[in-house]
Amino acid sequence: MASTTRRSFLASSSLAAAAAAASIRRAPARALTIRPRTEPKKILVLGGTSFLGPAVVRPALERGHTLTLFNRGRTNPHLFPEVEKLHGQRRRPDPARPNAPEQDLAALKGRKWDAVVDTSGYFPGNVEDVCKVLGDNVGQYLFVSSLSVYPALGVDDTAIDEDSKLAECDEKYRFDLGKEFEFYGALKRYCEDAATAAYPGGATIVRPGYIVGPEDPSDRFTYWPARFDRGGEVLAPGNPDNDLQFVDVRDLGEWIVHLIESRTTGAFNAVGFDGQLSVAEFLHTGKGTRNLGCEFTWVPDEFLLENNVSSWGEMGCWTPTKQNGHTSNARAIAAGATFRPIAQTIRDTADWVREGRGDRPWRAGMTAEREAELLAKWRAK
Ligand SMILES: NC(=O)c1ccc[n+]([C@@H]2O[C@H](COP(=O)([O-])OP(=O)(O)OC[C@H]3O[C@@H](n4cnc5c(N)ncnc54)[C@H](OP(=O)(O)O)[C@@H]3O)[C@@H](O)[C@H]2O)c1
Repeated sequence: MASTTRRSFLASSSLAAAAAAASIRRAPARALTIRPRTEPKKILVLGGTSFLGPAVVRPALERGHTLTLFNRGRTNPHLFPEVEKLHGQRRRPDPARPNAPEQDLAALKGRKWDAVVDTSGYFPGNVEDVCKVLGDNVGQYLFVSSLSVYPALGVDDTAIDEDSKLAECDEKYRFDLGKEFEFYGALKRYCEDAATAAYPGGATIVRPGYIVGPEDPSDRFTYWPARFDRGGEVLAPGNPDNDLQFVDVRDLGEWIVHLIESRTTGAFNAVGFDGQLSVAEFLHTGKGTRNLGCEFTWVPDEFLLENNVSSWGEMGCWTPTKQNGHTSNARAIAAGATFRPIAQTIRDTADWVREGRGDRPWRAGMTAEREAELLAKWRAK
């Protein structure tokens, strides 16, 4: 559709929206999952105090497990005063940065846990070092990886499952993720390998897609709940019928605790939903949940790309159709993953924007001025 005009796109997008409304394949709303209580476990979280970590710690505590957090004591040190905290430094010192702090894993030595949840591993050497110190003193190592281990993700529309090709890079013991985070996926993959080699039969690899919800520091998804609240004419991105996937941080945290309780091992994609969600369904759910005054003006991929709008950067919940492959979550669902209603994620995130986010500058999302400028440009086309 390289030469899509506003008129031809309007016609096709309203047809698509009507078709979406007629054959709604909305992810079913379900009650919050109730899982039977299991034996209490001793769980070490490597990290635990930013975004995903607390979403693991909270349900684990509620379910009667004993938690220990290992981190540097810098991020949100006020959290979880009732929980044991060990301090140290997991990074190997970077020879190019002579003032970098020494690695310090002493606090982990000689201690025993049933399971480890590693939310803070980005470099395989750091995972190897922690595994060496913990050795047989832990029974299960759950490593939080990323869908970025799949090089096809976001490049074309290939469908992805856990057996899809994994990323590689020349130097796995590097000390940076690359200027454009281009080594992030390959390094996560080598971290997975390190955990699996250290704990054959005892490693659980969780590969999340975009993690969203209250307390998300990235603002990538949070743009939308805030945008629904602002109302008015809304720039709706790309193809209304595109498949949209993300995971609510609380669903992910609760499922990670379930994987520990059930001692489930293996590799799992961790992304919604138990049904498919289109971008149009998402936007109309936001409108219905937050603000009936939203009016969507659909603007095609080509126009957004021509105007240098970045996918999941300046515009959250938008991936150009040609790059939008579906990621299978069948294995995760078979292993007990569940997903709360989208409306709940939208509502709670919007409430957090109003009450908890504060006024720090936005790290992602489109400003009101830029949105108005792009809408005017599109109208003039
Ligand atoms: N956000 C997404 O959309 C997304 C998508 C896919 C995968 N993921 C993955 O999900 C995970 C999410 O991480 P999160 O930040 O939310 O986890 P978190 O456990 O809530 O926070 C990171 C923790 O790591 C600690 N830490 C950082 N550097 C450390 C070091 N050198 N030594 C020891 N502790 C250190 C931090 O505390 P101190 O600063 O006090 O040390 C903090 O407690 C990551 O592995 C990420 O790759 C995220």
